[in-house]
Amino acid sequence: MEFSLTDTLKIEKITERTIRPVRNMLGTLRLPGDKSISHRYAMLSAMAEGSSRFHNFSTGADCASSLSCMAQLGAKVTRSGDSVEVQGCAGTFTPPGAVLDCGNSGSTMRMLTGLLAAQAGAFTLEGDASLNRRPMERVRKPLLEMGASIHLKDGHAPVEIEGAKLHGIAYRTPVPSAQVKTALLFAGLQAEGTTTVSEAVRTRDHGELALRAFGAEVTRSSDSVSIEGGQPLTGIEATIPGDLSSAAFFLCAGALFPDSNLVFDQLGLNPTRATLLDVLNSLGARISVLNLEEKNGELVGTVQLTAPREGLGATTISGALAAQLIDELPVLAVIAPYTRQGIRIRDARELRVKESDRIALVAANLRAMGAEVEEFEDGLDVRGGQQLHGADIDSGGDHRIAMAFAVAALRATGECRIHGADAVAISFPEFFDLLDLVAER
Ligand code: S3P
Repeated sequence: MEFSLTDTLKIEKITERTIRPVRNMLGTLRLPGDKSISHRYAMLSAMAEGSSRFHNFSTGADCASSLSCMAQLGAKVTRSGDSVEVQGCAGTFTPPGAVLDCGNSGSTMRMLTGLLAAQAGAFTLEGDASLNRRPMERVRKPLLEMGASIHLKDGHAPVEIEGAKLHGIAYRTPVPSAQVKTALLFAGLQAEGTTTVSEAVRTRDHGELALRAFGAEVTRSSDSVSIEGGQPLTGIEATIPGDLSSAAFFLCAGALFPDSNLVFDQLGLNPTRATLLDVLNSLGARISVLNLEEKNGELVGTVQLTAPREGLGATTISGALAAQLIDELPVLAVIAPYTRQGIRIRDARELRVKESDRIALVAANLRAMGAEVEEFEDGLDVRGGQQLHGADIDSGGDHRIAMAFAVAALRATGECRIHGADAVAISFPEFFDLLDLVAER
C-alpha cells in the first residue's frame, strides 16, 4: 500500500481553538471535494476494472478511512494531496486477515458492509468509540433478506461479514438513509436479479450517480431506484465538486453579517443536497448560482451569497426537509438566535445517532453561550433576537459541532473556546485556516 494517512493529510492536532467575533465575511473559496462523493468513488474505483484518477478528493479523515480500507482489500491506492489514483480489483476483493478500521466514518462502515456482503471470505469492520455506538442493524436487516451473513454486537460494530451468495430484493427503508440505500445498491450490483430500494423521502443520490459514472445501469422511478446484479464497473477520471455541507458553515456565517460577500467556486449543487440554499434564501439571504454544469452526473456551479441588511427572518424545518438537511441542522440551529424570529426544527430524531447526540450538544452549547433553547426528542426551538456571549464549547469530538459553534462564536460578544476542535479534520481539516482567510475583524 502506497497510501499513508499521516504522510498525506497533515492533520493538525489542536484540541482547543479560540474564536473571536468578526465584522463580516469576504472572499472567494474553492472547497475540498464532497465527502459523500469521495467515499463512493473510493469504493467503486476499488471494485472497478482498470484505474481511476480523482482530483479534489475530500481531504477529511473519513474518506481517508475509506481509502485505507480499500487498500487493505487489495486495491492499489496512491495519493498525493487531493489527487488520488486507484487501481481496481476488477470485482474481487481479498480478505485482509485483519480488522478493517472505519475510524469515525459511518459512511465507510455502512456502505462497505453492502459492498463486502457478497464477496468470498470473512471481513470484520470496526470503528472508533463514537462509530462503535452507532446503529448498524438498519444495514444488516435488509442485507440478511438478500441472503447475507452478518453479525453485530447488540446492533453495533464490530460488523462481522461472512461472504454469501445474494439475491435481489425490493426494500423500503424505514428511516431515510442514503448510506443504507447505497449499501443495498452496492450489494445489489453483486446479487442475482434486481434490487430495488424505495424511500419515503428522496435522500442524497450520489450512490446512484456514482454507479452510473462507473458504467452500471441504474433505473429510477419517483420514489425508488433499481439495479441489476452482475454488471461490471470501469475506472474513471473525475474532479470531485466542492462539499456543500462544508460550505454550509461559511454560507450560514456569511448570512449573519450584512456586508458579507462570499463566492464558492466549483461547488457541488446536486439537488438532493442543495436544500440549504433554499432555506437561506427563505431566511432572506441573497444567493446567486452561476456557471452550472454537470460532471459525472453531479451538478457543479459557482455560488455567491450576500446577506440582508435587515437580518435573517424565521423558518421551520420539518418532515422531508429535516432528512434532506440532516448534516446542516447543527449550523442552522446555532445561527437561529441571531435571526429575528428564530428557527424551529422537528422530525430530526436521526441527529441523536450521528457522530454525537447533536440535539443535546447543540442545546447544551447554545445555553452555555446564554441562549434560550427548547429541546425536543426530535428537534429544537431556538428563539430569535438573542445576543450570545463567549463560552467554553464542548465539541463532543464531533466535527460538525466544532464547526457550527465556531460560526456561532463569530457574532457573540467575547471569545469562545472550542474544546475538541481537532475533530474538524474528520471532514474539513482546512476549516479554521479558511475561516481566518475570509473573516474580517
Ligand atoms: C451520508 C448520508 C447521511 C449523512 C452523512 C453522509 C452519505 O447519513 O448524515 O453525513 O454520504 O450517504 P444517513 O444516510 O445515515 O442519514
